[in-house]
Amino acid sequence: MKLLHIDASILGAGSVSRQVSAAIVERLRQLSPGLTVVDRDLAAEPLPHVTLAHLPASHPFSADGPDRPVSDAVLAEFLAADVVVIGAPMYNFTIPSQLKAWIDRLLVPGQTFQYTPEGPQGLAGGKRVIIAISRGGVYGAESPTAGAEHVETYLRLVFGFIGVTNLEIIVAEGIAAGPEPRQAAIDGALKAAALVAA
Ligand SMILES: Cc1cc2nc3c(=O)[nH]c(=O)nc-3n(C[C@H](O)[C@H](O)[C@H](O)COP(=O)(O)O)c2cc1C
Repeated sequence: MKLLHIDASILGAGSVSRQVSAAIVERLRQLSPGLTVVDRDLAAEPLPHVTLAHLPASHPFSADGPDRPVSDAVLAEFLAADVVVIGAPMYNFTIPSQLKAWIDRLLVPGQTFQYTPEGPQGLAGGKRVIIAISRGGVYGAESPTAGAEHVETYLRLVFGFIGVTNLEIIVAEGIAAGPEPRQAAIDGALKAAALVAA
């Protein structure tokens, strides 16, 4: 089984989403000893913004260029994974642009979705996707700021579009509310990570 581990936080060792995504990967390593793990750190090695020259070869708008092989490799790496674990921090109410640049290389017609007379159809539904979200504020469905949440809602939309409708999401929120709420949120998320199913 192949696992793709994606991180995007710019906060290095102080990152909450990195801590939780690493705990999820560790949990799955313990549950499946034969697991192969590929790590892609989008902060350490950022992908450029997508331009025509970056679109994967299989994209209908693809143009040949020196940067295209990187996009092809990113898409192939995603397609090859059985399980994808993503650390997704909230920066300015949405995902980091580093993570968006990765997603921009995944939504390719004919590869991860297709248009049909009945509308778009996801082609990547066989994958398991687990996401560790960290947010400074609190955005739960009951909170008055719920409408400002564009990390979880966006990722549900994007992965649902390519066929992954049963996302597993672990949230650590209230990280900016002080040391105690921060620690409580991290502890809760790590506890959830330790319970991720095989
Ligand atoms: C550049 C930047 C922008 C942020 N923007 C928001 C925001 O819009 N809303 C929020 O609730 N928290 C925001 N935060 C707080 C982060 O969501 C919080 O620190 C979270 O733990 C980030 O994940 P990380 O620790 O894995 O990087 C921001 C933090 C940074 C560094």
